[in-house]
Amino acid sequence: MNAKTTTPLLSLDTLFIKTYGCQMNEYDSGRMADIMKQAYGLRLVAKPEDADIILMNTCSIREKAEEKVYSELGRYRKLKLKRPDLIIGVGGCVGQQEGERIQQRAPYVDLVFGPQTYHRLPELVKKIRRDRVRLTQTEMPEIEKFDHLPRHQGQGVVDCVTIMEGCDKFCTFCVVPYTRGPELSRPVADILKECTELLSDGVVEISLLGQNVNGYRGLGLDGEVWDFTMLIYAVAELDGLKRLRFSTSHPMEMSSELCQAFAEIPQLMPYLHLPVQSGSNAMLKAMHRGHDRDTYLLSIEELRSHCPTIALSSDFIVGYPGESDEDFEATLDLARQVVYDAAYCFKYSPRPGTPAAHAEDNVPEALKDERLQRLLSLMREQAKAGMERQMGRIVEVLVEKASRDEGDMQGRTSDYRIVHFRGNERQIGQVMPVRIIEAYGQSLRGELMLAGD
Ligand code: 5AD
Ligand code: SF4
Repeated sequence: MNAKTTTPLLSLDTLFIKTYGCQMNEYDSGRMADIMKQAYGLRLVAKPEDADIILMNTCSIREKAEEKVYSELGRYRKLKLKRPDLIIGVGGCVGQQEGERIQQRAPYVDLVFGPQTYHRLPELVKKIRRDRVRLTQTEMPEIEKFDHLPRHQGQGVVDCVTIMEGCDKFCTFCVVPYTRGPELSRPVADILKECTELLSDGVVEISLLGQNVNGYRGLGLDGEVWDFTMLIYAVAELDGLKRLRFSTSHPMEMSSELCQAFAEIPQLMPYLHLPVQSGSNAMLKAMHRGHDRDTYLLSIEELRSHCPTIALSSDFIVGYPGESDEDFEATLDLARQVVYDAAYCFKYSPRPGTPAAHAEDNVPEALKDERLQRLLSLMREQAKAGMERQMGRIVEVLVEKASRDEGDMQGRTSDYRIVHFRGNERQIGQVMPVRIIEAYGQSLRGELMLAGD
């Protein structure tokens, strides 16, 4: 008998998860680990070589996603040649989109599953072992997978809770509505329960996650449908919660109540990721974004009227089909007008199955590159100026963990900037005043303010 057997039928001991993509995928990988730990006592390992099961949690949002998955699978194939019992699973958005094609191309993959079916992993893995079959599970069940997941164990002092999934916006360039399915909001009571449990584990900062958090419409505590603002007021009241954040928001659903919440909820941190994609009305229309440039700028104005110090970030796409020089200049102009603290800039790439993929991808690659570089350099300038403005300030830092440098601790300011400073591990979980003494591109250095400073 195999010495490392936990459940004799399965003889599985260790799990490796490779995660690509967004915070929601990170969250999902955490839940996959939880459910496999609960079902089979599996232990997470850091290297695929040490694992009895390898799960890939993939992302298909941008170009070459599938190719990246296949090339990583090539590595795992070699491991499987040495250990035929190794189970390989491909989950997440590429799994959802590619389905059985994955096993046609990579027959050594035992399991393909989508983002809505990972609560069934223990049962699927058991079936694979018992019946020696290969499986594909990519349906989008109506039922809430969350009801089938074990208790979410808080990791550290900062953690995330998914409050809604999917997207009904159907921007023309985006695969999310097809891979993650329609918008589905969890009931308020379930979210509050998960948050309360995390807080009892020692978590003090919670990020509420969803593809469109402000599209949240969930069953409220009074039996009525609650919107996102109602939800955050309720979460903010939980005992022990020091900081609350959320991501991602859609400009179409930035209600006045939500803008005002930044002034009224002390736990709600002054940072907002509000992707605009383009500053040109023609492009916003072609992308089916559901808002124009002025509506976006008005939301920013309203946010700043309630919370003048709010830090802002956005996603941008350059080179969308038909994007002219003027359209691109309008994007630069919008960015200059808003002044962001961070930005994620992408070259458009056609994604299979999306409406934009039918249009000719007609901005030449070299021009896309040039636009990307121009936008990146403006955004770097803005981000750098934002960091330099912190010099000399005394900011509140939530201490998260020891940093790589011996004797240094690491945390974040209320507006999400990383700060390193001399400190000790007893400070983890506390919000401490730190004076900023150096500003780098991506982080700050500070000194802890001691009593009497
Ligand atoms: N091409 C380039 N960027 C894309 N994004 C989504 N789809 C595409 C695509 N086809 C970007 C958008 C989105 C972010 C998560 O990824 O900017 O906000
Ligand atoms: Fe994709 Fe648009 Fe939905 Fe965001 S809002 S997930 S970009 S379809």
